[in-house]
Amino acid sequence: MAESALITPRQVEFFHENGYLALDSITSVDEVAWIRGIYDHLFSIRAGREEGNQFDLAGTDEEGKEAALPQILDPSKYAPELKTAKCLTNALSITRQLLGPDAVHGGEHAILKPGGSAVPTPWHQDEAYWDPSFRYNSLSVWIPLQEATIENGCMWFVPGSHKQDILPHRSIGNDPRVHGLELDVAGFDLSQAVACPIPAGGATFHLSSTLHYTGPNLTDQPRRA
Ligand code: NI
Repeated sequence: MAESALITPRQVEFFHENGYLALDSITSVDEVAWIRGIYDHLFSIRAGREEGNQFDLAGTDEEGKEAALPQILDPSKYAPELKTAKCLTNALSITRQLLGPDAVHGGEHAILKPGGSAVPTPWHQDEAYWDPSFRYNSLSVWIPLQEATIENGCMWFVPGSHKQDILPHRSIGNDPRVHGLELDVAGFDLSQAVACPIPAGGATFHLSSTLHYTGPNLTDQPRRA
Protein backbone atom coordinates (compact mmCIF):
# COMPACT_ATOMS: atom_id res chain seq x y z
CA MET A 1 0.00 0.00 0.00
CA ALA A 2 1.56 3.30 -1.05
CA GLU A 3 1.74 5.85 1.71
CA SER A 4 -0.10 8.45 -0.31
CA ALA A 5 -2.91 6.00 -1.07
CA LEU A 6 -3.94 5.38 2.52
CA ILE A 7 -6.31 8.31 2.96
CA THR A 8 -7.72 10.86 0.56
CA PRO A 9 -7.03 14.62 0.50
CA ARG A 10 -10.64 15.07 1.55
CA GLN A 11 -10.07 12.97 4.67
CA VAL A 12 -6.96 15.02 5.51
CA GLU A 13 -9.03 18.18 5.14
CA PHE A 14 -11.80 16.73 7.36
CA PHE A 15 -9.23 15.93 10.04
CA HIS A 16 -7.83 19.47 10.14
CA GLU A 17 -11.30 21.00 10.13
CA ASN A 18 -12.77 18.73 12.83
CA GLY A 19 -9.76 17.52 14.84
CA TYR A 20 -10.55 13.83 14.33
CA LEU A 21 -11.00 11.16 11.66
CA ALA A 22 -12.66 7.73 11.85
CA LEU A 23 -11.53 5.01 9.42
CA ASP A 24 -13.27 1.67 8.88
CA SER A 25 -10.12 -0.26 8.02
CA ILE A 26 -6.45 0.23 8.82
CA THR A 27 -5.72 -3.47 9.23
CA SER A 28 -7.28 -6.92 8.78
CA VAL A 29 -9.72 -8.59 11.16
CA ASP A 30 -7.21 -11.47 11.34
CA GLU A 31 -4.56 -9.18 12.73
CA VAL A 32 -7.06 -7.74 15.21
CA ALA A 33 -7.80 -11.29 16.46
CA TRP A 34 -4.05 -11.97 16.82
CA ILE A 35 -3.49 -8.79 18.84
CA ARG A 36 -6.56 -9.52 20.96
CA GLY A 37 -5.07 -12.87 22.05
CA ILE A 38 -1.83 -11.19 23.15
CA TYR A 39 -3.76 -8.39 24.84
CA ASP A 40 -5.92 -10.76 26.88
CA HIS A 41 -2.83 -12.69 27.94
CA LEU A 42 -1.06 -9.51 29.12
CA PHE A 43 -4.03 -8.47 31.25
CA SER A 44 -4.45 -12.03 32.62
CA ILE A 45 -0.84 -12.14 33.86
CA ARG A 46 -1.08 -8.51 35.07
CA ALA A 47 1.88 -7.53 32.91
CA GLY A 48 3.63 -4.39 34.12
CA ARG A 49 1.83 -4.26 37.44
CA GLU A 50 4.94 -4.40 39.61
CA GLU A 51 6.72 -1.71 37.62
CA GLY A 52 3.78 0.64 37.70
CA ASN A 53 2.99 0.09 34.00
CA GLN A 54 -0.39 -1.49 34.72
CA PHE A 55 -2.82 0.60 36.73
CA ASP A 56 -6.41 1.70 37.00
CA LEU A 57 -7.04 4.87 35.01
CA ALA A 58 -10.46 5.65 36.46
CA GLY A 59 -10.53 4.09 39.95
CA THR A 60 -8.46 4.43 43.11
CA ASP A 61 -6.29 1.43 42.10
CA GLU A 62 -6.25 -0.34 45.46
CA GLU A 63 -4.70 -3.83 45.41
CA GLY A 64 -7.43 -6.50 45.50
CA LYS A 65 -10.13 -4.16 44.22
CA GLU A 66 -11.32 -4.75 40.65
CA ALA A 67 -9.99 -2.05 38.33
CA ALA A 68 -12.61 0.21 36.72
CA LEU A 69 -10.47 0.93 33.64
CA PRO A 70 -7.26 -1.10 33.71
CA GLN A 71 -4.47 0.14 31.46
CA ILE A 72 -1.06 -1.23 30.43
CA LEU A 73 1.58 1.28 29.36
CA ASP A 74 4.01 0.12 26.67
CA PRO A 75 2.47 -3.34 26.12
CA SER A 76 5.11 -4.27 23.51
CA LYS A 77 7.67 -4.27 26.33
CA TYR A 78 5.89 -7.44 27.55
CA ALA A 79 5.03 -8.81 24.07
CA PRO A 80 7.68 -7.58 21.58
CA GLU A 81 5.89 -9.31 18.68
CA LEU A 82 3.32 -6.49 18.83
CA LYS A 83 5.97 -4.24 17.21
CA THR A 84 5.47 -6.16 13.95
CA ALA A 85 1.75 -5.34 13.73
CA LYS A 86 0.71 -3.88 10.38
CA CYS A 87 -1.72 -1.53 12.10
CA LEU A 88 1.27 0.31 13.63
CA THR A 89 2.92 0.81 10.24
CA ASN A 90 -0.36 1.94 8.71
CA ALA A 91 -1.18 4.25 11.62
CA LEU A 92 2.22 5.94 11.23
CA SER A 93 1.80 6.31 7.45
CA ILE A 94 -1.62 7.91 7.93
CA THR A 95 -0.24 10.12 10.73
CA ARG A 96 2.45 11.38 8.33
CA GLN A 97 -0.26 12.29 5.86
CA LEU A 98 -2.10 14.17 8.62
CA LEU A 99 0.78 15.87 10.48
CA GLY A 100 3.65 15.82 7.99
CA PRO A 101 6.48 13.51 6.91
CA ASP A 102 8.58 14.10 10.06
CA ALA A 103 5.99 12.56 12.41
CA VAL A 104 7.40 9.79 14.60
CA HIS A 105 5.80 7.03 16.62
CA GLY A 106 5.60 7.74 20.37
CA GLY A 107 4.33 4.57 22.04
CA GLU A 108 1.29 2.48 22.79
CA HIS A 109 -1.01 1.68 25.66
CA ALA A 110 -3.75 -0.87 26.14
CA ILE A 111 -7.04 0.16 27.78
CA LEU A 112 -9.60 -2.42 28.86
CA LYS A 113 -13.17 -1.43 29.70
CA PRO A 114 -14.77 -4.44 31.41
CA GLY A 115 -18.22 -5.62 30.33
CA GLY A 116 -21.03 -4.14 32.38
CA SER A 117 -18.82 -1.20 33.38
CA ALA A 118 -20.88 1.86 34.18
CA VAL A 119 -17.71 3.94 34.12
CA PRO A 120 -17.23 6.27 31.15
CA THR A 121 -13.80 7.64 30.26
CA PRO A 122 -14.68 11.28 30.92
CA TRP A 123 -14.28 14.16 28.49
CA HIS A 124 -10.68 15.33 28.22
CA GLN A 125 -7.94 16.64 25.96
CA ASP A 126 -4.87 14.36 25.90
CA GLU A 127 -2.57 17.37 26.07
CA ALA A 128 -3.90 18.10 29.58
CA TYR A 129 -1.67 15.20 30.74
CA TRP A 130 1.48 16.82 29.34
CA ASP A 131 3.85 19.70 30.17
CA PRO A 132 1.75 22.88 29.76
CA SER A 133 4.78 24.96 28.78
CA PHE A 134 4.66 23.44 25.29
CA ARG A 135 2.06 23.13 22.56
CA TYR A 136 2.17 19.84 20.69
CA ASN A 137 1.68 18.78 17.09
CA SER A 138 0.56 15.31 18.07
CA LEU A 139 -2.28 12.88 17.58
CA SER A 140 -3.53 9.67 19.12
CA VAL A 141 -4.74 6.61 17.22
CA TRP A 142 -7.44 4.51 18.93
CA ILE A 143 -7.65 0.93 17.66
CA PRO A 144 -10.49 -1.18 19.09
CA LEU A 145 -9.90 -4.95 19.15
CA GLN A 146 -13.53 -5.76 18.33
CA GLU A 147 -16.27 -3.72 16.71
CA ALA A 148 -16.65 -0.45 18.64
CA THR A 149 -20.28 0.53 19.21
CA ILE A 150 -22.11 3.17 21.21
CA GLU A 151 -23.16 0.33 23.57
CA ASN A 152 -19.64 -0.93 24.31
CA GLY A 153 -17.90 2.42 24.56
CA CYS A 154 -16.76 3.76 21.18
CA MET A 155 -15.03 7.12 20.82
CA TRP A 156 -16.92 10.43 20.82
CA PHE A 157 -15.43 13.75 19.68
CA VAL A 158 -16.47 17.40 19.73
CA PRO A 159 -15.81 18.59 16.14
CA GLY A 160 -13.62 21.71 15.99
CA SER A 161 -12.71 21.52 19.71
CA HIS A 162 -9.00 21.30 18.79
CA LYS A 163 -9.09 24.98 17.79
CA GLN A 164 -9.29 26.11 21.41
CA ASP A 165 -6.71 26.17 24.21
CA ILE A 166 -6.17 23.38 26.68
CA LEU A 167 -9.00 23.76 29.20
CA PRO A 168 -8.79 23.25 32.98
CA HIS A 169 -8.87 19.56 34.00
CA ARG A 170 -9.04 17.78 37.36
CA SER A 171 -8.66 14.19 38.60
CA ILE A 172 -11.63 12.02 37.60
CA GLY A 173 -14.37 12.54 40.19
CA ASN A 174 -12.11 15.21 41.73
CA ASP A 175 -10.39 12.34 43.59
CA PRO A 176 -6.62 12.98 43.69
CA ARG A 177 -5.94 9.21 44.08
CA VAL A 178 -7.21 8.65 40.51
CA HIS A 179 -4.66 8.74 37.63
CA GLY A 180 -7.10 9.88 34.93
CA LEU A 181 -8.10 13.47 34.19
CA GLU A 182 -11.46 14.94 33.28
CA LEU A 183 -12.56 18.26 31.93
CA ASP A 184 -14.67 20.29 34.26
CA VAL A 185 -17.70 20.27 31.93
CA ALA A 186 -19.91 22.54 34.00
CA GLY A 187 -21.32 24.98 31.49
CA PHE A 188 -19.54 23.32 28.58
CA ASP A 189 -21.67 22.59 25.51
CA LEU A 190 -21.28 18.94 24.46
CA SER A 191 -24.42 18.89 22.31
CA GLN A 192 -22.30 18.82 19.13
CA ALA A 193 -20.41 15.65 20.18
CA VAL A 194 -20.25 12.95 17.51
CA ALA A 195 -20.10 9.18 18.21
CA CYS A 196 -17.69 7.16 16.00
CA PRO A 197 -18.71 3.50 15.95
CA ILE A 198 -16.22 1.54 13.79
CA PRO A 199 -15.73 -2.11 12.79
CA ALA A 200 -12.90 -4.33 14.01
CA GLY A 201 -9.83 -3.35 11.98
CA GLY A 202 -10.80 0.33 11.99
CA ALA A 203 -9.27 3.21 13.97
CA THR A 204 -9.91 6.77 15.00
CA PHE A 205 -7.30 9.56 14.88
CA HIS A 206 -7.55 12.68 17.05
CA LEU A 207 -5.31 15.65 17.82
CA SER A 208 -3.97 16.07 21.35
CA SER A 209 -6.21 19.12 21.79
CA THR A 210 -9.46 17.49 20.54
CA LEU A 211 -12.09 16.88 23.24
CA HIS A 212 -12.99 13.20 23.41
CA TYR A 213 -14.73 10.63 25.58
CA THR A 214 -15.76 6.98 25.57
CA GLY A 215 -19.03 5.90 27.12
CA PRO A 216 -19.71 3.14 29.63
CA ASN A 217 -19.57 -0.45 28.37
CA LEU A 218 -23.16 -1.64 28.65
CA THR A 219 -22.48 -5.01 26.97
CA ASP A 220 -21.41 -8.19 28.79
CA GLN A 221 -18.10 -8.39 26.84
CA PRO A 222 -14.91 -6.42 27.56
CA ARG A 223 -14.19 -3.47 25.28
CA ARG A 224 -10.54 -3.75 24.32
CA ALA A 225 -8.56 -0.95 22.65
NI1 NI B 1 -7.58 10.52 25.59
